[in-house]
Amino acid sequence: MVQLRLPKESRVQPGKTWPAAKRADGKPTKRAKRLRIYRYDPETKGNPRLDTYTIDTEDTGPMVLDALMKLKNEVDPTLTFRRSCREGVCGSCAMNIGGSNTLACTKAMSDISGTISVYPLPHMPVVKDLVPDLTSFYAQYASIGPHLKTKSATPAKEHLQSPEERAKLDGLYECILCACCSTACPSYWWNPERFLGPAALLQAYRWLADSRDEMTGERLDHLEDPFRLYRCHTIMNCANVCPKGLNPSQAIAEIKQMMVKRTV
Ligand code: SF4
Ligand code: SF4
Ligand code: FES
Repeated sequence: MVQLRLPKESRVQPGKTWPAAKRADGKPTKRAKRLRIYRYDPETKGNPRLDTYTIDTEDTGPMVLDALMKLKNEVDPTLTFRRSCREGVCGSCAMNIGGSNTLACTKAMSDISGTISVYPLPHMPVVKDLVPDLTSFYAQYASIGPHLKTKSATPAKEHLQSPEERAKLDGLYECILCACCSTACPSYWWNPERFLGPAALLQAYRWLADSRDEMTGERLDHLEDPFRLYRCHTIMNCANVCPKGLNPSQAIAEIKQMMVKRTV
């Protein structure tokens, strides 16, 4: 029988309300903002919970990541999340904020009215709090062979490419592998082990579109599978959430066209 409710141990419980973060100048809070943040610690064996925090936006940087850093540094050191570059380059601070997957470091708090909800990327196992386990996401990325593959002899200098050929990689090479797209894709939710998902497929097309690569046939052979490629139903969630403005759905359509062309 289909299980319509989450298992008991997965249900999110109401959590703790933390005292407001103090201003650096000791003055009373001027512009309070509440954040409701998903907390889960596998070591305590407890259910996940939603903790409520309050910060003063006049005393904090403008982005959601600034608020998380302030809370971790000054209120609750156990709050766990990933971040590195804090400028939309590394992809490590991807999470679900205000109901949409995005990067905490480029999401302005002022874009969200009312309480800001913060969850880990959806439909992935959670390591702790806002940290998803991306092991299978990276394994899928590795499976597409994300590097130049050639058959001809290695040139004395670099592999040359015309400006027009290089331009074909625009909209593809900028991917930062944040996983916002794949974890927003319903087809990936239902077939996470067999469908490669929009991020890995965008990367697969990035190498198929590269004029220097000489393994197009083998790359297409690898993708010719009812699940790896063809589970994309053009729902477009991927393009809607990509924080770099990329369109994995379009890349997937290009791969499907390449498949058709090689059979006619
Ligand atoms: S367009 Fe394809 S890859 Fe993108 S969200 Fe929809 S099903 Fe997933
Ligand atoms: S396509 Fe966009 S959303 Fe998907 S992994 Fe790359 S940068 Fe992130
Ligand atoms: S911290 Fe690097 S993308 Fe947000």
